[in-house]
Amino acid sequence: MSKQTVLTGITTTGTPHIGNYLGAIKPAIEASLNPAYNSYFFLADYHALIKCHEPERVARSTQEIAATWLALGLDTDVATFYRQSDIPEIPQLTWLLTCTTSKGLMNRAHAYKASVDANRDAGKEDLDDGVTMGLFSYPILMAADILMFNADIIPVGKDQIQHIEMARDIAGRFNHGFEPLFSLPQAQVDEATQLIPGLDGRKMSKSYDNTIPLFSSTDQLRKLINQIKTDTRAPGEPKDADGSTLFQLYSLFASEAENAAMRNRFAEGIAWGDAKTELFEFLNAQLEAPRQRYNDLMADLGYVEAQLQKGAVKAREHSAPFIDNILAATGIRPLTYVPAIKTDESVKKEKSAEDIARAEQGRRRAIVMQLKREIERVEAADDKAAEAQAVLAEKALQVESLKKKARQKAENELDVLREELSRYQG
Ligand code: TRP
Repeated sequence: MSKQTVLTGITTTGTPHIGNYLGAIKPAIEASLNPAYNSYFFLADYHALIKCHEPERVARSTQEIAATWLALGLDTDVATFYRQSDIPEIPQLTWLLTCTTSKGLMNRAHAYKASVDANRDAGKEDLDDGVTMGLFSYPILMAADILMFNADIIPVGKDQIQHIEMARDIAGRFNHGFEPLFSLPQAQVDEATQLIPGLDGRKMSKSYDNTIPLFSSTDQLRKLINQIKTDTRAPGEPKDADGSTLFQLYSLFASEAENAAMRNRFAEGIAWGDAKTELFEFLNAQLEAPRQRYNDLMADLGYVEAQLQKGAVKAREHSAPFIDNILAATGIRPLTYVPAIKTDESVKKEKSAEDIARAEQGRRRAIVMQLKREIERVEAADDKAAEAQAVLAEKALQVESLKKKARQKAENELDVLREELSRYQG
């Protein structure tokens, strides 16, 4: 089976915080080590311009995010790690998709609708006040990021699910109107990491200003942890671990045994001040080594830049030839271009092995459902081997007695039954 492609982008407008680390960076780096996946991770700097027109901030954030991923151990020989703006095929594809995406679809995008709603609430006459075309067509740029690499799985936060669904719609429309060149991507949302609490107990997020930067200095980290909200329970009073931001953050970094021990101390009434010290010391110890690497990388940005350039070369090995095919499908072609003549066979061959495998699996599942009664009969029997033999013999007899078309169907069933029941036979 061919590999699935996992792809995600990080908008370069902020400093990576603990919520980004636990919710996105850590799981992505782990997934990149799984040989079942090809991973593409990129710095979405064109996306940054949609909401931020502070050049220094965008540039600084790009450095910080790149250094963070490398400091946390991303292997750039395994994953393809690049900067969006180094891949000129992405804006090229964005235009092609802009020409095939209906405006009505974009009208429904949450980010755009939120701006319109805010203008309406503020009593503004122009409901599009402050809305740029970048914000309006944001989902098309995002679709281009994804479709450019035929990505299958897109790990994102909940707020991005709609964009992935739009990317599917956009891909489907292009596939239907021109040529079926794009895979349909699927969002992957990890519920557990949607709930990482910030200093005030709400979800940790830039927009709530309640974040703990991942590579804060030791002093800054201590200070921030001291700001975490607690209740008024006195030392010695039992405390609810699960309701405590301190405990929740601790548990996201801790092993099960460490977790259980800390839970105990909450039940025994650990003082809030002590809980803060514990959390600080624990996090500080875990973050020390990557923080050092991060600081070293921030002092050697030439190295980080070279890593991104290497990623761009790898990414373009795919995107450069692919954009030629996409352009050709729309009629933008060299004058001498000769379209390949498609026979039924060649169309079939173009389906990836994976598509075929998936279709085959679906077909098999459908047949197994029809055979449920027979399979259950074997499973319920005392002598399963004998019963399996009997079921197969009956089916074989049925095959013999049938006419051509019905017979083919029964033969297929017999094949599946043989496979399904093989485990019961000696
Ligand atoms: N818009 C995404 C966010 O703000 C970042 C992003 C840009 C992205 N392009 C992407 C995520 C493509 C996944 C796939 O979080």
